[in-house]
Amino acid sequence: MPYKVAIIGLGGISGTHIAQWQKLADEAAIVAGADVNAEAVSNAEAAHGFKGYTDWRAMLEAERPDIVSICTPPFLHREMAVDCLQRGIHVLCEKPIAATVEDAEAMAAAADAAEAKLMIAYCHRFHGPMMKLKEVLDSGIIGQPIFFRGAFTGMVRFDTNHRASKQMAGGGALMDNGSHAADLYQYLLGKMTRVSCRAGTFIGQMETEDVGIILFTGENGCFGEIIAGYALPGDFTQWIVTGEKGVLEVADYWGGPIRFRPHEGEGAQDFACDNSASRFDRMFDHFLDCVKTGTEPSTNAHTALHIARVMDAAYREAQEPGLPVKL
Ligand SMILES: NC(=O)c1ccc[n+]([C@@H]2O[C@H](COP(=O)([O-])OP(=O)(O)OC[C@H]3O[C@@H](n4cnc5c(N)ncnc54)[C@H](O)[C@@H]3O)[C@@H](O)[C@H]2O)c1
Repeated sequence: MPYKVAIIGLGGISGTHIAQWQKLADEAAIVAGADVNAEAVSNAEAAHGFKGYTDWRAMLEAERPDIVSICTPPFLHREMAVDCLQRGIHVLCEKPIAATVEDAEAMAAAADAAEAKLMIAYCHRFHGPMMKLKEVLDSGIIGQPIFFRGAFTGMVRFDTNHRASKQMAGGGALMDNGSHAADLYQYLLGKMTRVSCRAGTFIGQMETEDVGIILFTGENGCFGEIIAGYALPGDFTQWIVTGEKGVLEVADYWGGPIRFRPHEGEGAQDFACDNSASRFDRMFDHFLDCVKTGTEPSTNAHTALHIARVMDAAYREAQEPGLPVKL
């Protein structure tokens, strides 16, 4: 019997979850979806043939799914994930884990107490070029890491979206794309210990930031910078790790290769990336594997809680510049 899957939130990212679960049809079947927006529910019912609900709790009661994909804005993740975990339902919850550290802590506690698994969908860890960057970095080619830069940018307007609301999203570009970048630093090089931040709104009509920059120290002593923007061109997107022996750079984020430039001598080297599967293919395979084997997801509540703490510390420092916040 395939796992019974239900989707909560039938907006933008749910399309990816639905398509990915459909690819795994031998092992998982979407039985239902819920959204407070009745039009989104009827559209999803018509497009995908599953049963729709406007009340996600009624859906859980009626359908008793084994797995839930949570695709709602961050301020709703806590109540939905905790409820599912307490019912023994495995949860693949969209990033960021929550809008506040308090909510993220409650989710981590619920995950620790549950038999069921909670994974937070930091999908870029499963992106071919990032996996290759980690492999090459772990080979020790650059020696001691000195400086990391991760920039996720693009010109986009979210004025009427949950991303414009501090209460719903917890923050703007930093919380949204910057949290992916912070998770990638964690994946590549470990935790952050100290952060400073600038966050401002330049083009968007929103209470959250459309440009954010975090300057940080890592637990390994490495310095780093994360740039996230809805008001910076997409070609600012850049991934670099510099070390005592040379520089590693993702030449093209959407395909690679990973380029190594030694500080001394010639010998630049390109490492090809395995782009045979998408980040979403790999992330859903990983989650299903964790459900089947009972192993802990690579992006669990605790790794995501660290990112929630980084963002919270960054926003506090942005309001009181000059006080680099220790984590
Ligand atoms: N992993 C990624 O790369 C990625 C990409 C995009 C979005 N996301 C994340 O996915 C989440 C949703 O983002 P989105 O862009 O899809 O937003 P969206 O606004 O397009 O969709 C959210 C949906 O949730 C529904 N909703 C709101 N309250 C609800 C409730 N109480 N019960 C049921 N449904 C409810 C809304 O009606 C809407 O249809 C966010 O956390 C976002 O950061 C992740």
